[in-house]
Amino acid sequence: MADHDESLKQTYDVVAGDYVAHIFDELRHKPFDRQLLDEFAARVGRDAVVCDLGCGPGHVARYLRERGVNVLGIDLSPSMIEQARRLTPAIPFREGDMRALDAADSAWGGIVAFYSIVHIPKPALPDLFREWRRVLAPGGLLLLSFHIGTDTVHRDEWWGHDVSIDFLFFQTAEVIEALQSGGLAIERVVERDPYPDVEYQSRRAYIIATAAAP
Ligand SMILES: C[S@@+](CC[C@H](N)C(=O)[O-])C[C@H]1O[C@@H](n2cnc3c(N)ncnc32)[C@H](O)[C@@H]1O
Repeated sequence: MADHDESLKQTYDVVAGDYVAHIFDELRHKPFDRQLLDEFAARVGRDAVVCDLGCGPGHVARYLRERGVNVLGIDLSPSMIEQARRLTPAIPFREGDMRALDAADSAWGGIVAFYSIVHIPKPALPDLFREWRRVLAPGGLLLLSFHIGTDTVHRDEWWGHDVSIDFLFFQTAEVIEALQSGGLAIERVVERDPYPDVEYQSRRAYIIATAAAP
């Protein structure tokens, strides 16, 4: 594993417990996100397998499961996966790399990925989305969110831990272009301002895309 990946994994391992304390409950304060997830759950139904990619402690997966979705979760960080399993034992969570998925072609009816692309360099996005397209069944649904902007935010400290991590922000148009390059069809794009006192104060984008038949 490259140094960057190892460092990223170690960072999320170190902050996993604090991530639970700060983020696990966040959907309670985010009605817009809940509405999008409700719509996503209604569309994918109960039969399709859905994957929460870069699931962290698994709160989004858990929200979907509570709405009847057959969901699993994958994350690079073993400690995040440990937290996710502890918090929601009914969901199969496993370690994995969303850039090279251990899933068969067309295996999943849906992918949800909230802020999971935040460490992916822009030039790597089309290949990432091509891989997601590979594992989505024809007509499969993607719900993706990310921070809008042109900045890279570097942090040396995170919840009292010494870290070195970059968070990448994206322009909506460049993510749309990368999704299309990866073979996904854009269905809906929504942006919103941050909820005050609830989350990092960045504007956010949500994209719903579908996997067209090959
Ligand atoms: C900003 S957190 C978002 C977590 C969660 N989706 C949420 O909404 O709170 C990014 C997550 O992506 C995971 N991650 C980063 N790169 C990954 C990769 N290549 N494959 C799988 N997970 C990855 C990290 O370990 C981390 O848990």
